[in-house]
Amino acid sequence: MQNGEMIMTDFFAGLEGVPASKSGVSFIDGEKGILEYRGIRIEELVKKSSFIEVAYLLIFGKLPTKRQLDKFDSDIRFHRRIKYRIVDLMKTLPERGHPMDALQATVAALGMFYPAKEISDEETNYWSIVRLIAKLPTIVAAFARMRYGDEAVRPRDDLNHTENFLYMLTETPPDPYMAKVLDTSLILHAEHTMNASTFSGLVTASTLADPYTVVSSAIGTLTGPLHGGANERTVEMLREIGDVGKVKDYIEEKLKKKEKIMGMGHRVYKTYDPRARVLKDIANKMQKRYKDITLLEIAERIEKVSSENLKEKKIYPNVDFYSGIIYDRMGIETDLFTCVFAMSRVAGWLAHWLEQLSNNRIFRPSAIYVGKHNLNYKPLKNRR
Ligand SMILES: CC(C)(COP(=O)(O)OP(=O)(O)OC[C@H]1O[C@@H](n2cnc3c(N)ncnc32)[C@H](O)[C@@H]1OP(=O)(O)O)[C@@H](O)C(=O)NCCC(=O)NCCS
Repeated sequence: MQNGEMIMTDFFAGLEGVPASKSGVSFIDGEKGILEYRGIRIEELVKKSSFIEVAYLLIFGKLPTKRQLDKFDSDIRFHRRIKYRIVDLMKTLPERGHPMDALQATVAALGMFYPAKEISDEETNYWSIVRLIAKLPTIVAAFARMRYGDEAVRPRDDLNHTENFLYMLTETPPDPYMAKVLDTSLILHAEHTMNASTFSGLVTASTLADPYTVVSSAIGTLTGPLHGGANERTVEMLREIGDVGKVKDYIEEKLKKKEKIMGMGHRVYKTYDPRARVLKDIANKMQKRYKDITLLEIAERIEKVSSENLKEKKIYPNVDFYSGIIYDRMGIETDLFTCVFAMSRVAGWLAHWLEQLSNNRIFRPSAIYVGKHNLNYKPLKNRR
């Protein structure tokens, strides 16, 4: 101890393996490729549940009763609309700006429209949770349309969460098959233990900031290409390759230059990411149905070539590898992929936010000082 501060001399870059919280929200076994939400395997949830039910499970800690689920679902449907001043605010954002930046800015502003600083009040927190889950898709779809000069499409209460999102994007009733696939993808992206965006949200939460601020900082962290941004980069890479015959040279060239293959590798999984397994299966089923997903063949070849080269390092496809291909076939624009990720991960962020509040201590880690001491101040005129 020094000045009341515990001094640890071991340093773990990226805090690898250092626990930042005790959590009951989700569990990963990175060696066996297992992911559980509140103790339930994701493979079971994608078969039997829906994104809204999974969000409830994550946030409130147990599966809802029929009455609880109906209420949560109808509260979310009711709060999908965004105030015209929020729409006006979004219209002032640059139309060429990245949709994730628009989403982050708008979510931060939501906290001014719906004051939620009373975070000790359960009722206030419930409505913040409902609003955030309900409004994120509306904001994403509104920005996606308004940047081309189109009007935002009003949400429809009669459609479920993913049907409504696809409807707001296109103004046409969605194919129920596509809406179901999107719902499955949202379940798979909803939570993933102490990832970078969740950690960033938790640090913000630990200062007792309001949930809109917590979620907006998490959205900012999700933007980066090493995190949520990887699904966009993966599809861009697939398009850049363009032809299955070019895969081998492209990948080997990249590896020679020590560049990362997007959508591959994971800090925790040292085997196949279980989410990628489900998404790969879905992509193959979609291909059987539509027979026009050219990017899938390229992706599968990349997986093969990469596994030949990277097996020793235990690098396998992660969740971002196949999700982009699926969104692309749905007609979702590439720069919206990470926003779709945020629409889902908001459930996990909120679950961790509530967990943090239940036993809060402000995050204040230390740093190992590697700078100099006792230097003299050099006058400006003497500096070069
Ligand atoms: C996810 C990721 C950030 C994890 O990083 P990490 O745990 O810090 O792992 P490292 O970057 O230290 O990689 C360990 C080794 O595997 C290699 N590696 C990791 N991911 C790789 C990838 N996608 N392509 C090629 N090599 C990769 C590294 O080059 C390194 O090799 P080295 O030991 O010879 O230097 C990393 O795998 C990555 O950048 N992936 C691509 C981006 C991505 O898909 N992100 C989404 C994650 S869900």
